[in-house]
Amino acid sequence: MTSIMHEKRVFSSRLLSCLIAISMFFLILSCSLLFRIGDNSLVPRSIYNLIVVDHGSIEPKLNPCKGLCSESKKFNPFASCDPDQSVLKVFMYDLPPEFHFGLLGWTRNPNQIWPNVGNFSEIPKYPGGLNLQHSVEYWLTLDLLSSLIPNVPSSCTAALVRNSSQADIVFVPFFSSLSYNRHSKVEGSEEKSTNDILQEKLVKYLKGRNEWKRFGGKDHVIMAHHPNSMLIARWKLGSAMFVLADFGRYSDKIANIDKDVIAPYRHVVRTVDANNSPPFEERPTLVYFQGAIYRKDGGVIRQELYYLLKDEKDVHFTFGSAGGGGIRKASTGMAGSKFCLNIAGDTPSSNRLFDAIVSHCVPVIISDEIELPYEDLLDYSKFSIFVPASKACKNGYLMKLLRGVKREKWTEMWENLKQIAPHFEYQFPSRPGDAVDMIWKMVSRKISPLHYKAHRKNRYSMSQQFLNSR
Ligand SMILES: *[C@@H]1O[C@H](CO)[C@@H](O)[C@H](O)[C@H]1NC(C)=O
Ligand SMILES: *[C@@H]1O[C@H](CO)[C@@H](O)[C@H](O)[C@H]1NC(C)=O
Repeated sequence: MTSIMHEKRVFSSRLLSCLIAISMFFLILSCSLLFRIGDNSLVPRSIYNLIVVDHGSIEPKLNPCKGLCSESKKFNPFASCDPDQSVLKVFMYDLPPEFHFGLLGWTRNPNQIWPNVGNFSEIPKYPGGLNLQHSVEYWLTLDLLSSLIPNVPSSCTAALVRNSSQADIVFVPFFSSLSYNRHSKVEGSEEKSTNDILQEKLVKYLKGRNEWKRFGGKDHVIMAHHPNSMLIARWKLGSAMFVLADFGRYSDKIANIDKDVIAPYRHVVRTVDANNSPPFEERPTLVYFQGAIYRKDGGVIRQELYYLLKDEKDVHFTFGSAGGGGIRKASTGMAGSKFCLNIAGDTPSSNRLFDAIVSHCVPVIISDEIELPYEDLLDYSKFSIFVPASKACKNGYLMKLLRGVKREKWTEMWENLKQIAPHFEYQFPSRPGDAVDMIWKMVSRKISPLHYKAHRKNRYSMSQQFLNSR
């Protein structure tokens, strides 16, 4: 991990000088591209028709992406994305707005399916507070839409294609977490909640599509980040690749690490600026935890730890919720602490880990069943401390362990945290190395065995066709 980081730093200075030359080249190229986008573009017609490309409103900003760009040459703020240059070619269904931006109270023209992401003020906002934790559905969809728009900078890791048989994956743009958060109650005289109805409609829609039948849904990407989202549909769509927070509420038949992708929660606390991050001496609190203390299932451990730690000096361990300025307090609290506890709640994961990362507060992970995003690329032990639940509950164990981490060792982890924190940042437009970009690359790694098997199966199919045609 450290060696990779070092390598990237060396690369980035070389890349930066290349970048200037490359961007000049693309500036010229993009002019010619603008004229070429027409009938032969790979853009799904329905999407393209609805997007009014607005050349005046956005000023593309070239972001040097702080040593995180491994593929900066594709990062070209002036052109729409070339699917042949992207890591993933994506076909996205034109699901009716009730499945996505319609859930955000979007006011649109009657035939419009997608918002015009070329004009930022026309993009409906995702609700804030704790809703934001599961907003991966929003950021991925916006990124795909922007791959068609020349004047929105994009990392172009994933690019939309119009012809589904040329796509690596099929993307299902259902905002299932928002649907759960906002519409899972049965209203008035209704028999079913909107969330249930949408899931049933989705299953029917997908099962009727030729794209689904091609691989039995295995090349479909479905987002279900909230642990209770897709409660009905998950059983019927389990062959697809899910984007999840963890596997806590899934049977391993329908969700598992071989086919599914673990995506970070969107953090709710403020990101600490890496250049102004308080060092060891300026973090007076040794251990920080704020959250619900009494949880069901795996969460009993929170209660045990509370009684073990509540009277220790320099430990902050309290009840707290997002309301009543809780998020603001947690922002300050985490940025002023050396270690932040991540204890299993009623699910193995929570946004607290990601809040700790962007606060550069070394995470102490006490959750035996936790799944971690991009763990094939990131060695979490370089910036977090894992403690088995059985040991954490032994009297004195945790405090002895954490008091034993000296300034030098802590600072090494803190430096690593500052380096990797941008990988957990969701944003629009997406940038190389951010959460959106990392998730697409993870999807690409998961899907490749499927295409490998399909291509192997095809080996002799052509000869059969030649024989039949004689
Ligand atoms: C962008 O959208 C806003 C809000 O709909 C609108 O007022 C503004 O005129 C648009 N900008 C351009 C350049 O079209
Ligand atoms: C889609 O792509 C496939 C394979 O490349 C091709 O055979 C087919 O004609 C294309 N369909 C359309 C509508 O362009």
